[in-house]
Amino acid sequence: MKSFYITTAIDYANGSPHLGHAYEKVLTDVIARFRRAQGDSVHFLTGLDEHGQKVQQSAAKRDISPQAFVDSVAVEFQALCEKLNISNDDYIRTTEVRHKQVVRDIQQSLFDKGEIYKGEYHGFYSARQEQFLQEKDRNEDGSWPEIFGEVSEIAEENYYFKLSQYQDWLIEFLQENPDFIFPKYRQKQVLEFLKEPLNDLCISRPKSRLEWGIPIPFDEDYVTYVWFDALINYLTASDFMEGDTGKWPADYHVIGKDILLPAHSIYWPIMLKACGIPLPKHLLVHGFWTTSGNKMSKSTGNTVNALDLADQFGVDSFRYFVTREMKVGQDSDFSEEQFLNRYNGELAKNLGNLVSRIQNMVTRYSDGIIPAAQVNEAADIEIQALWSHTAVKVVELGEAFQFHKMLEEIFQFLSGLNRYTELREPWKLAKSEEPGAKDLLLTSLAVISEGLRLASVVLGPVMPDISARILGLLGSEPVIEFAGNLDWDFRLEGKSVGEKTILFPRPEK
Ligand code: MSP
Repeated sequence: MKSFYITTAIDYANGSPHLGHAYEKVLTDVIARFRRAQGDSVHFLTGLDEHGQKVQQSAAKRDISPQAFVDSVAVEFQALCEKLNISNDDYIRTTEVRHKQVVRDIQQSLFDKGEIYKGEYHGFYSARQEQFLQEKDRNEDGSWPEIFGEVSEIAEENYYFKLSQYQDWLIEFLQENPDFIFPKYRQKQVLEFLKEPLNDLCISRPKSRLEWGIPIPFDEDYVTYVWFDALINYLTASDFMEGDTGKWPADYHVIGKDILLPAHSIYWPIMLKACGIPLPKHLLVHGFWTTSGNKMSKSTGNTVNALDLADQFGVDSFRYFVTREMKVGQDSDFSEEQFLNRYNGELAKNLGNLVSRIQNMVTRYSDGIIPAAQVNEAADIEIQALWSHTAVKVVELGEAFQFHKMLEEIFQFLSGLNRYTELREPWKLAKSEEPGAKDLLLTSLAVISEGLRLASVVLGPVMPDISARILGLLGSEPVIEFAGNLDWDFRLEGKSVGEKTILFPRPEK
């Protein structure tokens, strides 16, 4: 059986992890966990992009070898994955032998097929962007935009990949596969871009200028251009080149909007096409986190430390916030105030309080044992109906990557469960001498427990730890799969509730 193969972009090793990196990993992890919940066998890849000029420079600045430098950066990025509870099955580093071999094999085969040729380049070059510039890249006043850093005029021979001859094929492919890129409007942008003629892609850098790269197999005086190296990571890790067809083609490459054009939507499909290798099924393009409207990146120093936030409020609260706040595909502004609003209002109050309450009430009114429901009155029927609606919506919205709405639905259900609790007032029923009060009390405890069980199951992909903790508190094992676990069937009857726990403590001042 082919697995559902999903990847993130591989992060540049020339800096430290920030919220943007953290978000992409959480988003991809939510999708991976959601697919596992749906019964898919998932293969989830993430990793580190370790070659290039900037890495060489960062290492030189520290007076260490590039390898020693990327080794230390890899520790930091892998720690981020661990901290965020990312369930990746593999972590690829582009300096690994398995990867260098595949890159060289691909280059050699394209060279043998005549898809790569040697040519002369004369013009301007940005070392910071590792990019050859064209006249159209200049500012109106003739200067070069900031982002290119120092621009120098160079003349050199390099190797070129015949990208341009695939332009018509790519246009046709995109027209025939309108769902290749999510969200759809991004695919229109690519088609718009393809209205201009493509240039062939320079895939080499002379070793005299850049040493830290994968040597070109047919000319050891050159190393591979970073993108031609980095994109291939997805293929390397699938073991497709070793004959394993269990993973490739990838189902989704999850990437940020800045690397769709031209790398993932032009270079990558054409590289694969030229090799005769199947294309990935989809690209999923997310937007950018900004802080007060500014793009967040290392160079502007404008970063919110993701690791600190997760430390302070719990990893699952962080995962919840970024998933709830950002509509996949659009940009979002990160504000600590908004984080605290959601933490206090949605997590601590709506979810956390209800969990404490049920634990408390079952302990006091039912000897710590979740009772059987005794009656089925209007309020009970209504909350079960709300659950049925929620369960359908969760699957529908999750499959459409509308995780912000999926969470909204789950929390509306939790609000419903809170309203039910307020309506029944089990604490009053416990003191009541009225006939039927005891039945209503036990029913309420059974209903609230069951509602919390079901909400916890569907929260699993976003908040795996919180989900397992609530289920544990209700005497249940952690649940991965949705199938067979989303029915309202009072299966907790007779289970003992656990010790009192505060899931979302008040942050220290
Ligand atoms: N190394 C390349 C990707 C190669 S993939 C074959 C790269 N690395 S990166 O470190 O700059 O970015 C890694 C991912 O993080 C990209 O998908 C990028 O879009 C994403 N983000 C970087 N900053 C971001 C935000 N501020 N917000 C959301 N995602 C952002 O590009």
